[in-house]
Amino acid sequence: MKNIGFVGWRGMVGSVLMNRMQEERDFSYFHSTFLSTSQIGKYAPSIQGKQELFLQDAYNIELLNSLDIIITCQGSTYSNIIYPKLRKTGWAGYWIDSASSLRMNDDAIIILDPVNQVFIEKSLNNGIKTFIGGNCTVSLMLMSLGGLFSKNLIEWVFASTYQAASGYGARAMRELLIQMGQVYNTVTDFLTSSTATILDIEHTITKFSKTDSLLVDCFKVPLVGNVIPWIGNYMCDGQTQEEWKGQAETNKILNTSESITVDSLCVRVGSLRCHSQAFVLKLKKDICLTEIEELIQSHNEWVKVIPNDMKQSLENLTPIMVSGTLEIPIGRLRKLHTSNKHIAAFSVGDQLLWGAAEPLRRMLRQLL
Ligand code: HSE
Repeated sequence: MKNIGFVGWRGMVGSVLMNRMQEERDFSYFHSTFLSTSQIGKYAPSIQGKQELFLQDAYNIELLNSLDIIITCQGSTYSNIIYPKLRKTGWAGYWIDSASSLRMNDDAIIILDPVNQVFIEKSLNNGIKTFIGGNCTVSLMLMSLGGLFSKNLIEWVFASTYQAASGYGARAMRELLIQMGQVYNTVTDFLTSSTATILDIEHTITKFSKTDSLLVDCFKVPLVGNVIPWIGNYMCDGQTQEEWKGQAETNKILNTSESITVDSLCVRVGSLRCHSQAFVLKLKKDICLTEIEELIQSHNEWVKVIPNDMKQSLENLTPIMVSGTLEIPIGRLRKLHTSNKHIAAFSVGDQLLWGAAEPLRRMLRQLL
C-alpha cells in the first residue's frame, strides 16, 4: 500500500479535500500520514482506513522523503521552502499541491483532468512528478467552456469575474459575515420603524461604511454592499496577477502550441464560495447556438447548459444554488449583436471544489 502524506489538511481547502475524499472513500486505497507545521504529536484526524495515529512533522525532510505521494494545501510559503529541499534529497515521489508557487515551473503540470487528461497521461509517461491545482477562476472557466476549447474553436475570450470572498481565504469569509452583522446592527431600529425612509437607512449605512468602523483587514475596504475591482498584486500591462493568470494558465493547462488570448477584469463580490464569470468570446468560425450548446454540454459530466430564460437562470445560475456542489452551470448563452462569431455566456462554480480541492483528489486517485 502506498504511503500518502497530507499537509495543510485542516485549512479551508484542506478540509474540503478531506470531506470529498471521505465521501468518495479514497482513504481505503492507501496508508495515510497526516503532517502538521504546528501540532506535531497531537492525534491525527479520525479517518477511514489505515493511518498513523499521531501528527508528524511537516518540516521533517527525512520523513517526507519516505512518502510515496505528498498532497499539500498548506500554501505557497510551505511549498517554496520544502519542495526544493525535498527534491534535492533525490525524492522521486509525487507532489500534489493546491498552492500557486510551483504552477508555472517547467517540470510541473497544472491538473484539471476533465480538461487535460490526455496531457496529464502524457506527462506521467514522460516522468513528470509534480502536479499543481490551477487558479480557481481559470479552472472554472475551462470546466464551463471546455467543449469549445477542446475543439479549438475559441480565438479569444474575455471574462468579467465576480469572485467570492473564499478566494482570499477563510479569514475573508469571516470578515464579510462580520461586516454584514455590523451594518445590520447600525440600522436595526430604522428597519422596524414606520417613520424611517429607505434613504434614511441607506444614508446611515453609507456613512457607517465610509468610516473606519467596519472590519476591513483583508480587502482594506468593505466588501459588504460593495464590489472591489482588484484581485492580487499588480502584474504588468495594467493587469493584476489574477488577470495575468488567465492566459498563462489556460494555455499551460491546454498545452496549446499556439497561444489562445485570454483576458479578464477580476472583481471581488460579496458571495461566499462561488466564483461567477461573464464571458465574451470570439469563435474561430460562425456556428449556430444549438451546436455551441451541444459542444459545451457534452464536454464533461459536471457542466450543465442552462436555457437562456429568467426562471432557469434565477434557479440554476447563482452562487447560492451552486455552493457546495460540483455542478458547473453555464447559461445566458447568446450571440452578441457585434458579430455572429461573438458569444456571451455566464457561468458559476464552487471555488473550493472544482476551483481547488477536486482536481487534487482526482489526481491522487489517478496516481494510485
Ligand atoms: N486567487 C483567487 C481569488 C482564488 O482570489 O479569488 C484562488 O485561485
